[in-house]
Amino acid sequence: MSGASGTSGTDVRRVPIVAGNWKMNYGPAEAQTFVKQILDDLAAISGVERVLCPPAISLLAVENLTRPTDVKLGAQNMYFEEKGAYTGEISPLMLKGICQYVILGHSERRAYFGETDELVNRKARSAFAHNLRPIVCVGEQLEDRDAGRTERVLTEQVRGSLANLPAERLGELVVAYEPVWAIGTGRAATTQDAADAAALIRALLAEMYGVDAVAAVRVQYGGSVTAANAGEFAALPDVDGSLVGGASLKPEFVEIIRQTAQAKGV
Ligand code: PGA
Repeated sequence: MSGASGTSGTDVRRVPIVAGNWKMNYGPAEAQTFVKQILDDLAAISGVERVLCPPAISLLAVENLTRPTDVKLGAQNMYFEEKGAYTGEISPLMLKGICQYVILGHSERRAYFGETDELVNRKARSAFAHNLRPIVCVGEQLEDRDAGRTERVLTEQVRGSLANLPAERLGELVVAYEPVWAIGTGRAATTQDAADAAALIRALLAEMYGVDAVAAVRVQYGGSVTAANAGEFAALPDVDGSLVGGASLKPEFVEIIRQTAQAKGV
């Protein structure tokens, strides 16, 4: 239940959500092999939304297998325009009907592909316009944390990336708090770090959209999530699940979701 943080005015039951960000791993054939390995177990878990985010070229191959189940799909990125001369890009219209979710503003996109808060925001607004649910990533770098700038960086990212969204549809928004220093390093944040960041994200969104709208927003923790720590993060009242990288490429992903279900009591 929300409300425990003191930033949510309405009690809303948020469905926990765990997403697997495969990054640049598993082409169509490998993707099918892996999904066949985990799908029965994945489909059998209820009470937690389960989202697979393969590379774009593997989305259809995975969708072929997940279609009869309630396992959802997400893209790892998209452009905000519907079509046109944007070589190499994929549009929301192309994703629609295949995916329900799209990860936006992952720190790797911000760091290696120059994505700014302004661009991420255009993408997030486009996702809403096309009924794709954005999983928008925010998170500070190690030097920000060491310099005591975590709050400032998160504030800037939330205000910039999540501006001008439809307040009445914030139940479709997922915000992933992913401290950059925790991604792929085996060094997860502490639960206190995650709790503080999630509370800050909720408080900032409450300023922007009002307390009631924000009660429906789901916040994930991401960064070195494993089957061993997923339950601790999911036990936090302001955290609704996780965004998983490396461990989502293994059957361990199923165990992460089981731990999440158990921690949330669903
Ligand atoms: P990781 O990646 O779980 O491998 O740390 C998380 C992410 O980048 O979403």
